[in-house]
Amino acid sequence: MLGSLLLLLLFWSSAFSFPGAFAYSRLTKGSSLSVENQEDVLISPNGLFTAGFHSVGINAYSFAIWFTEKLSNRTIVWMANRDHPVNGKHSKLTLLKDGNLILTDASKFISWATNTASASFVQILLQNTGNLVLTEKDNVLWQSFDVPTDTLLPGQPLTRYTRLISSRSQNNYSSGFYKLFFDDDNVLRLVFDGPETSSIYWPDPWLLSFEAGRTRYNDSRVAVLDSWGHFQSSDRVGFSANDFGPGIQRRLTLDFDGNFRLYSLDTTTRSWIASWEAMIGSCRIHGACGPNSLCSHYPSSGRKCSCLQGYRVKNYTDWAYGCEPEYQLPCNSREVTYIKLSHVNFYGYNIDILHNSTLEKCEKICNESRKCKGFQYRFNKENGVYDCYPKSAFRNGFISPTYSGMLHLKQPKAIALATDQPAKISSLICSSSSIVTLNRTYKKKGERESVRILLWFVPALGLLEMICIVSVWFFLYRSRRTSDKQPYVHLSTGFRKYSFSELKKATKNFGEEIGRGGSGIVYKGVLLDHRVAAVKRLKEANQDGAEFLAELSIIGRLNHMHLIDIWGYCAEGKHRLLVYEYLEHGSLAENLHCTVIDSKMRFEIALGTAKGLAYLHEECLEWVLHCDIKPQNVLLDSNYHPKLADFGLSKLLRRAEVNDLSFSKIRGTRGYMAPEWIGNLPITSQVDVYSYGVVLLEMVTGKSPKMHVQTFGVGGEMVEKTLIEWVREIVKGDGEITAWIDEILDPLLDNTQCDKGKMALLVRVALHCVEEDRKVRPTMRQVVEMLLH
Ligand SMILES: *[C@@H]1O[C@H](CO)[C@@H](O)[C@H](O)[C@H]1NC(C)=O
Ligand SMILES: *[C@@H]1O[C@H](CO)[C@@H](O)[C@H](O)[C@H]1NC(C)=O
Ligand SMILES: *[C@@H]1O[C@H](CO)[C@@H](O)[C@H](O)[C@H]1NC(C)=O
Ligand SMILES: *[C@@H]1O[C@H](CO)[C@@H](O)[C@H](O)[C@H]1NC(C)=O
Ligand SMILES: *[C@@H]1O[C@H](CO)[C@@H](O)[C@H](O)[C@H]1NC(C)=O
Ligand SMILES: *[C@@H]1O[C@H](CO)[C@@H](O)[C@H](O)[C@H]1NC(C)=O
Ligand SMILES: *[C@@H]1O[C@H](CO)[C@@H](O)[C@H](O)[C@H]1NC(C)=O
Repeated sequence: MLGSLLLLLLFWSSAFSFPGAFAYSRLTKGSSLSVENQEDVLISPNGLFTAGFHSVGINAYSFAIWFTEKLSNRTIVWMANRDHPVNGKHSKLTLLKDGNLILTDASKFISWATNTASASFVQILLQNTGNLVLTEKDNVLWQSFDVPTDTLLPGQPLTRYTRLISSRSQNNYSSGFYKLFFDDDNVLRLVFDGPETSSIYWPDPWLLSFEAGRTRYNDSRVAVLDSWGHFQSSDRVGFSANDFGPGIQRRLTLDFDGNFRLYSLDTTTRSWIASWEAMIGSCRIHGACGPNSLCSHYPSSGRKCSCLQGYRVKNYTDWAYGCEPEYQLPCNSREVTYIKLSHVNFYGYNIDILHNSTLEKCEKICNESRKCKGFQYRFNKENGVYDCYPKSAFRNGFISPTYSGMLHLKQPKAIALATDQPAKISSLICSSSSIVTLNRTYKKKGERESVRILLWFVPALGLLEMICIVSVWFFLYRSRRTSDKQPYVHLSTGFRKYSFSELKKATKNFGEEIGRGGSGIVYKGVLLDHRVAAVKRLKEANQDGAEFLAELSIIGRLNHMHLIDIWGYCAEGKHRLLVYEYLEHGSLAENLHCTVIDSKMRFEIALGTAKGLAYLHEECLEWVLHCDIKPQNVLLDSNYHPKLADFGLSKLLRRAEVNDLSFSKIRGTRGYMAPEWIGNLPITSQVDVYSYGVVLLEMVTGKSPKMHVQTFGVGGEMVEKTLIEWVREIVKGDGEITAWIDEILDPLLDNTQCDKGKMALLVRVALHCVEEDRKVRPTMRQVVEMLLH
């Protein structure tokens, strides 16, 4: 009844505004949808989905299903003929009398068909779930859910017979190079299947399936996203949207960049927000930039590709082709030399792997092999030796400040000496974004080429400018890094599993407690290799060990000088433990009331903490919100450099709570919590910004935000104010720094030595961070920039 009413309404409204146009709810034998009439569409009864012809370029159309609501762009969830678009004239989707659904191109060629047959009554309709079904009475003859393109909708299973294939680029919907499917060993995998090579990149190829938290022994091979936002696969990989709960529109898409993401529709901004993603740091996705090129990731502008020195771009419209050498390497090994590229890594194509090798030995091997194009040389923190990887090809390369290895690139001596620049990087946007131009009936060529070159030339100029800035930044950053005491940061591919008895022994039966928090108790311990560690014993949980591992393997991969290093974990029975590096000076909370921490040090701690948080927010989307920034979670090493602790724990713990249904969404610590937690607003990275602001105020004033500040009111009576209110009023009252800063400054700070300018800057930034309205708070990246000026 309601359905038919809606139908009538839809019919009436569309017939009214577009004379001669129809939005159908079903298609019966003999009827068709025409490409020429854009209102010729099928709409699901709930109005959420629309099926019709979608323009994929000039005069090129594909039959597709999309979300009816037009957000910034139409969100396509399925396509019938992604690789064979049809002409914009006379093309039609027709349900034939014999039960076959066909798509004809310019009414001549059949571009796509379901190849179904039925003599009885058949109809095609678009269900509320977004599934396009061809039914014969109650019998399903064909459905779009069985032939997905790059997207899974809630309730749509991925099975042994189906796979997702990414789009070619953001604007080219044809089949791309990335695939998600159940492999022969029952494990769900992401594979880059490029023009020349193919390689698995998810789960991490160097891990055995059980190490990645997968099982090979369940051969049902099925994975599905439920309506609450939880995805579960038969190989045990499972995850939840970070806005887990019913009533939210979601989709799982294998994006054109090779990342597999869960998106949720944000009802306030009406836009898609990634609420989970398979890969952190899109440069670790294989094939990102093609051979001989390097991928780099910029939080603001995304992924960029650049050629290695001595190589040039092969095809400017498509980075998948990578780069080609500008000159031949000489045969004579005496005419070659090596240039060093720091923070550069290439995966695979090793001629050999040598553990515990010297640089000389490694160079010698590469000298002697004509196949060797260079070698990777890096410190292996686990056994404290250097490893050598001579390479026969450069593929899957990335450059990242957090990667500590070095590439030694073979070059002809004459050229390397002539250029005398360590690492020239030329860069362009990775994916081509040219629009399809298809004009079958009237083919024209000529001026288009020159326009295209011009179109590429303009952004290239802009980029050239950017490259200069980026490389300057990069060298500054690098020189600062190498002057650190610990130049080699552990590449966290293999953090270790510890047994419970081993950790029990290391901590002397959990004897020396060094900290305690909502998530568990921290003990000091000495590992078998004599490293001093902080062992955190999480509250016992009924959670699945595999899920714990899957989450942990991501947290363990985060790596930054201002994040605490995770060395390993233990998951045995109900025991869940994390093993961290031990930091000598404990937490900021313990040190805040010592005079050692002067104003200069406080500023450096504020800046370092901001950098660590900015890294968390940018590399991990919203996925690893800290959600509990407070002085107890900022730890200080022997030089009082800050490192954030406890990141990612909110996610690990929330999972356990979701399962027992009594979960409250609120987490964090009183005094530091953003108003969103109480207001039931979406929780974004801005909650961390707020808490960070409160910590800054605490660092400057020495006053805890948990207590109220008592002052005298206008009439001389005592009034209580929160720390934020108190500071805000004083700062507002006076223009001059000198007037207000003295009033709020921590009395412990030596008045003569104190850098009041820096403290005032902290206060200003802090007040910006603790704005009630989360939209006006700065991002952590902006905070870092403000502090650096
Ligand atoms: C929308 O599409 C245009 C080109 O079709 C693209 O440039 C733009 O980035 C897209 N916007 C979003 C938000 O994806
Ligand atoms: C295999 O996976 C399916 C789907 O996740 C699950 O229902 C089933 O219980 C699993 N079978 C075994 C033996 O674990
Ligand atoms: C560059 O790539 C485009 C798009 O894939 C292709 O059409 C073109 O032929 C390529 N050009 C060369 C020189 O390989
Ligand atoms: C490798 O070859 C270069 C060029 O002849 C030479 O300078 C270098 O010493 C050689 N390295 C080793 C370890 O033999
Ligand atoms: C590495 O090699 C050196 C000398 O070849 C040796 O003394 C050392 O014990 C080795 N280290 C390891 C961890 O094998
Ligand atoms: C879209 O990608 C396919 C596959 O590479 C290619 O054949 C087609 O020409 C592309 N379309 C455009 C306009 O780039
Ligand atoms: C496609 O054909 C139409 C004629 O119907 C013509 O006007 C248009 O310029 C053509 N487009 C291109 C890009 O050649």
